[in-house]
Amino acid sequence: MANPSGVILDIAKFAKVAHANGVPLIIDNTFPTPVLCRPFEFGCDIVTHATTKYMDGHSTQVGGVVVDSGNFDWTKHADKFPGLVEPDPSYHGLSYTKAFGKQAFIVKATAHLMRDYGSIPSPFNAFLVNIGLESLHVRIRRHAESALKIAKWLKTQKKVAWVNFAGLPDSPYHKLLKKQFHGNSPCGVMTFGIKGGRKASIKFMDSLKLIGIVTHVADAWSCVLHPASHTHRQLSDAQLKAAGIPPDLIRLSVGLEDPEDLIADIEQALKKV
Ligand SMILES: Cc1ncc(COP(=O)(O)O)c(C=O)c1O
Repeated sequence: MANPSGVILDIAKFAKVAHANGVPLIIDNTFPTPVLCRPFEFGCDIVTHATTKYMDGHSTQVGGVVVDSGNFDWTKHADKFPGLVEPDPSYHGLSYTKAFGKQAFIVKATAHLMRDYGSIPSPFNAFLVNIGLESLHVRIRRHAESALKIAKWLKTQKKVAWVNFAGLPDSPYHKLLKKQFHGNSPCGVMTFGIKGGRKASIKFMDSLKLIGIVTHVADAWSCVLHPASHTHRQLSDAQLKAAGIPPDLIRLSVGLEDPEDLIADIEQALKKV
């Protein structure tokens, strides 16, 4: 589920380790969305999403959601969660686990933390997310299918050094995709490298006509991000490598355009490298 590397977590394995240590497993499921992956089915306890991405789908608002499976038993590990188990002086001595059982976490999150931090969407933002959710099941499949098509095409290109996308059958994460995802593609986001490193990547990005250079991701419009010249441009090649970011890494977020148009854009930009 990682952004941007294309890594897919073995949810059941991590859930087992988390539970053996008395902690819930929390997964950021922003990229697959619940349409393509439902982490609760594999033992995850809490799921988070940036609604800013596919859920909205059109970059109209910023927000997030927390979804609690209600499966984690907080009282079994009471010493680790005093904020949920012990009386809360800011709520008349209420113990969330006593009053709400397995819903203790999500009630505290909404009743207490939202109250104190004000982390609630404005009604208009909620309205925008709601509109996005109505078409999510159609859009995310299109994003994922187009991305798979483009990833396969990129693999055939001489100027492309590598492609990291779990939808590709030779990805080390393809088996986990098959096990945990609905469909054969994880989402619309992939990474790839251009031969020639940082300089070649910059030339490639500057040559794109349809695909935008944008920090945002998982949007209706296709966009690219090159950390070495963009979000992480202060770092040297050695520092980038130490952070696990190859200097040639380009993140491509495949939008809802015709994938053939996107391939044509990438093809003409590759010719200029
Ligand atoms: C996978 C993932 N989760 C969460 C976030 C956080 O999104 P926001 O800043 O809109 O809350 C991002 C942002 O890029 C993301 O890519």
